[in-house]
Amino acid sequence: MTISGSIGPTLVGKQIVLGVTGSIAAYKAIALLRTLLREGATVQVVMTQSATKFVTPLTFEVLSGHPVSTDVFEAHQEMKHLSLSEQADAIVIAPATANCLAKSALGLGDDLLSTMLLTAQCPLIVAPAMDGGMWTHPSVTEHVAKLRARGTIVVDPEVGPLASGRIGQGRLAEEATILEAIQAALAPRRDWQGHRILVSAGPTQEAIDPVRFISNRSSGKMGYAIAEAAQARGAQVVLVTGPTALQQPKGIEVVSVATAEEMMKALSSRLAWSTTVIMAAAVADFRPANPALQKLKKQGRTGQTLELERTTDILASLSAQRTTQLMVGFAAETSDLIAHAKRKLTEKGLDLIVANDVTALGGGFGSDQNTATLIDREGVLTELPMMPKRALADAILNRAQELLRVRQSNQTSKLVRGRR
Ligand code: CTP
Repeated sequence: MTISGSIGPTLVGKQIVLGVTGSIAAYKAIALLRTLLREGATVQVVMTQSATKFVTPLTFEVLSGHPVSTDVFEAHQEMKHLSLSEQADAIVIAPATANCLAKSALGLGDDLLSTMLLTAQCPLIVAPAMDGGMWTHPSVTEHVAKLRARGTIVVDPEVGPLASGRIGQGRLAEEATILEAIQAALAPRRDWQGHRILVSAGPTQEAIDPVRFISNRSSGKMGYAIAEAAQARGAQVVLVTGPTALQQPKGIEVVSVATAEEMMKALSSRLAWSTTVIMAAAVADFRPANPALQKLKKQGRTGQTLELERTTDILASLSAQRTTQLMVGFAAETSDLIAHAKRKLTEKGLDLIVANDVTALGGGFGSDQNTATLIDREGVLTELPMMPKRALADAILNRAQELLRVRQSNQTSKLVRGRR
């Protein structure tokens, strides 16, 4: 195989899990494995039981230099579904059968490969291979669409003669095409280079007395994921965070605050520096009006009333002071998600809002996963399925990047009109 324009091995140091499923094209995975090795990757092969009917695990074992895993219950291989996916920089399934796509789309885990996909946080690249009639079946189309929406990279099968003797779309994509998809998934995207992003995360704490406070259930995971994703994509990031149990992300300037007032100060003093503001923090709307200087004692009291006062709406205030910054907010809701989010988008003068149903099963506060609908000021809705918070962070950055591009091209055409 020749790869035009490729200079030296492109996957040095990368750990790839190559999943092989039961298609006649399983033999092509041998050539793909050799190519990945030639490109410098370390490859662990995982086969489904039906794949072993087409090619023996020994073939992959000898070529990859690693034992081939087929079973989630292998002796001395406890938690293989976790360890393999944790170490992987990418998971590649080639060939991927219709059954494999369906299981992945539906979140089923009945063997090592499918269970591993449920724990994976790295890019997933699937190269389907099946008979033409199967590829165009509505359920396959639906599953592929679901996987794509979730961020899975699907390398479409090609048109040509199939094992059944028919001609149609179903042949495993060319090795070079699959390799390009893997290289693209592992090459760092630098589309936020030159941007300065101010991200807020976590809860705030509002003192009742020196030992007690009012706070909320925010873990900070969403904001931290955004900060990390933005930095990985080339942005300079300042993360203003309320108290969380999370580790400080490397290479990011972190400003730790406790109260809404401190968060307001930290953010507004950096607004002029920033080109984009992403406000993922769960800021307290109210704080005790008169926090006690000494610990409140229960002695002699049968109850206690706390008088609360409003805090500043930080996002609305930043938005009112902004010059050219793109403003992104969150709407944490438990009912009427879209209506409330649209109202907040308008009232706070935002460009984009991430509407987040915090009661959604598997998502919300504390979870590693989240689901959201992105709404821009033109009313365009982007519904995102449940996905890891890091993948959601990338999806939010993708949408924000699109809005910046539209803004840029509108400005350019205004300039051109002005010169005429
Ligand atoms: N926000 C803020 N300052 C506040 C409250 C909220 O900057 N005092 C920001 C949040 O960071 C989020 C957005 O405003 O980006 C919406 O927050 P949310 O809690 O969903 O809504 P609220 O505006 O607080 O309204 P409500 O509590 O009535 O739903």
